[in-house]
Amino acid sequence: MRHTGEVSEPYDRLLQATSDLDTPFAVIDEPSLWANADDLVRRAGGVPIRVASKSVRVRSIVERALQRNGFAGVMSYSLAESVWLADNGVDDILLAYPTTSRSALLDLVADDRRRAAITVMVDSTESLDLIDALAGPGHPPVRVCIDVDSSLKLGRAHLGVRRSPVHSANHAAALASAIVARDGFDLVGVMFYDAQIAGLPDSSTAVRLIKKRSAAELLERRGRVVAAVGEHARLEIINAGGTGSLEVTGADPAITESTGGSGLFSPTLFDGYDAFTSRPSAYFVLSVVRKPAPDIATLFAGGYIASGPTNKNRQPVAVWPAGLSPIVTEGAGEVQTPLKGDAALSLRVGDRVIMRHAKAGEMCERFDDVAVVGANGRTEMLATYRGEGKNFG
Ligand SMILES: Cc1ncc(COP(=O)(O)O)c(C=O)c1O
Repeated sequence: MRHTGEVSEPYDRLLQATSDLDTPFAVIDEPSLWANADDLVRRAGGVPIRVASKSVRVRSIVERALQRNGFAGVMSYSLAESVWLADNGVDDILLAYPTTSRSALLDLVADDRRRAAITVMVDSTESLDLIDALAGPGHPPVRVCIDVDSSLKLGRAHLGVRRSPVHSANHAAALASAIVARDGFDLVGVMFYDAQIAGLPDSSTAVRLIKKRSAAELLERRGRVVAAVGEHARLEIINAGGTGSLEVTGADPAITESTGGSGLFSPTLFDGYDAFTSRPSAYFVLSVVRKPAPDIATLFAGGYIASGPTNKNRQPVAVWPAGLSPIVTEGAGEVQTPLKGDAALSLRVGDRVIMRHAKAGEMCERFDDVAVVGANGRTEMLATYRGEGKNFG
């Protein structure tokens, strides 16, 4: 295998350290990973960060993050995943999305340690009814957290994600009162995820304005919701924010913790924020398998398109060698990804190209392990969820 052109840090170190691995493979630049972790902690301003597991999907990286100052607990995405993490020693897990899994609920209520470790998300009495129906009558208490819609409503416009129906302090208080009146549930938390701030790059003046306005509205509403729900239960968890909004949520005295995950890997969707400079730590490496024209190099695999609205920004990006672009009519392909540009002139069959994914944890669904490369080139293979035989959706 031959490297061409100007190779520079970290690319030369990553390529040299992984030269024995067959492509395609995923690689993590360890110094950047932990520098990102420190940066998240700094940005959160003293508020502990819950690790968003969906944005990592490598159990040992989640566990190593938890050992660092400034991180506490996991924000999980599936109940089956939560049970698995609890059984593997994680003792504080906030499941951020509702569940309909009978088997995972039965696993949860069957074991006191799991019940103590895991908090499930609810947003209506229907969520409670479903848990009762699936877990069976007289199930032991399940820790629950109320998901509060943190979108900005401007007239009829809804700026944010479509998740919880609970928006106002009154609505949250009514749900809290219904929860505490029922057997089988312990209300322990409220969660506010401000997707329109945390998940939206600062791409224009209009976006910046909306984000500012939303932050101000949330600062006020979060306080009211916490006070209203706090009339009914002692709240252990008041969670808000994500990688893109740590300095905003961290400054709110109403919250007890923030969340961060994507910021560890810093995929391309986190490149355009004003508050921080993206330091990529996660890549995947593909090989040139053919040269259909002198300025085109076609790679094996690579069609790892990220979830969300199917825009161009969901495509992977070639970062080394610099100056390679996808071909509009093909994009990143199922098994063939042609890239065009001057850099392709010097690429030959067998050469390697380093790519970035648009999202963080999703990249790991493509690989059984990630090669974690240290500052000195020492490489460790860590299993992804997928590599551990786990696919939680
Ligand atoms: C409920 C919730 N909190 C926080 C986050 C932030 O995660 P990340 O830091 O990976 O962007 C997300 C991401 O979608 C989320 O759904």
